[in-house]
Amino acid sequence: MSDAARSANTFPEGFVWGAATAAYQVEGAVDADGRGQSIWDTFCRVPGAIAGGDTGDVACDQYHRYAEDIGLLADLGLGAYRFSIAWPRVQPDGSGAINQKGLDHYRRVVDELLARDVVPYVTLYHWDLPQALQDKGGWPARDTAYRFAHYAAVVHDALGDVVKQWTTLNEPKVSSHAGYGSGIHAPGIKDPVLRDRAVHHLLLAHGLSLDVLRRGRHAAGQQVGLTLDVSPVVPASDSQADVDAAARVDVDSHRLFLDPVLRGVYPVQLDCVEDGDLELISAPIDFLGINYYRRILVRAAPTGDQRAETILPEGVPVTAVNWPVQPDGLREVLVDLHTTYEELPPVYITENGAAYDDVPAEDGTVDDPQRVDYLQTHLAALRTAIAAGVDVRGYFVWTLLDNFEWAEGYAKRFGIVHVDYATQTRTPKTSAGWLGRVARANALPSGDSTD
Ligand code: FCB
Repeated sequence: MSDAARSANTFPEGFVWGAATAAYQVEGAVDADGRGQSIWDTFCRVPGAIAGGDTGDVACDQYHRYAEDIGLLADLGLGAYRFSIAWPRVQPDGSGAINQKGLDHYRRVVDELLARDVVPYVTLYHWDLPQALQDKGGWPARDTAYRFAHYAAVVHDALGDVVKQWTTLNEPKVSSHAGYGSGIHAPGIKDPVLRDRAVHHLLLAHGLSLDVLRRGRHAAGQQVGLTLDVSPVVPASDSQADVDAAARVDVDSHRLFLDPVLRGVYPVQLDCVEDGDLELISAPIDFLGINYYRRILVRAAPTGDQRAETILPEGVPVTAVNWPVQPDGLREVLVDLHTTYEELPPVYITENGAAYDDVPAEDGTVDDPQRVDYLQTHLAALRTAIAAGVDVRGYFVWTLLDNFEWAEGYAKRFGIVHVDYATQTRTPKTSAGWLGRVARANALPSGDSTD
């Protein structure tokens, strides 16, 4: 390999390689050690809400098997684990009494990670709001943001001496838009006014907790960020109606979050913003987490009432959840962010991955060439974005284990490690070994670069 080819395949020195999960998707043990109920426990009981009537009651039982899972990650050669803390384990009702057993659990997880030389990347909120707070109004209620800041302080007091990497929220857009807009996620509400209030109060929760983490006693080198899901939004045609529809989707899905966080302004008017809120929300973050899965192709809805529809591009392969595979969209989204926002902090890809119908062979091995291809092409696109000047510090695959994929239940497998749910047996797929080799080399195998 020539020097030029080698450097085009290589990631920057110190680049972080990891895997991501979320508490409700992997932990199970929903009644263990004083955990309270979350909105997902409730939502899973709504007939028809989750494919197959599945629930997160058992999931991958990571609450009990965390040491095994951390061992898998470390043995693969991945140096970082992005996981989330379940608020209802730490504070069962979302306010009031703290559950020490919940905090102790996460302390053990963090200690195990550190013992295996895996850097913990803690997310404080990945969608599992305590049900008791939903009963008081949930994210549309301003008080929930203050409850979150208190919870963040409690977790930070317990782990902040050793955990340096903190993310306040994962994908607030999905919490607001899917939880209170379309209602396809917990708590299953469909109300545009409540949806917009949820947007602001989630961002306020981010701002308040950012302030708490900055002020609290913390480890040297602490970094605090936020994770957003961002996709290039492409009009289905060059008709004015489609171009306008795509612009509306881009504002509603992306700028509604990026502008207040990076610039201190909303691109639209929201009715519940109070003085001082935007200063908190736009306080500098140390990194922005980006979750990337696909481009969004948009056309104006035939009803002509300002609505937009997402459609599938023709001739593009799709994953098992019908998401088009568009690796170059990752480069495009990063370069776009870099050119649009001069305020952009360093970026981590906090999620990227694909669901495929992986079937174990008779000898028990699980070969997933489509996922290897997905990862390889996306990492090549990422490498191109870095070469174009975007400051990307790390990559977390979604996800370590096959797990509870929200409304899709267990039917869709995103893991680089296969889980047999009947026995809880973990089997690393071909993609796990492949990604581990990339991480160890800090480079793609030769021939994979698109530079
Ligand atoms: C993201 C979520 C993550 C997982 C992946 C497939 O939106 O953050 O929990 O469901 O999608």
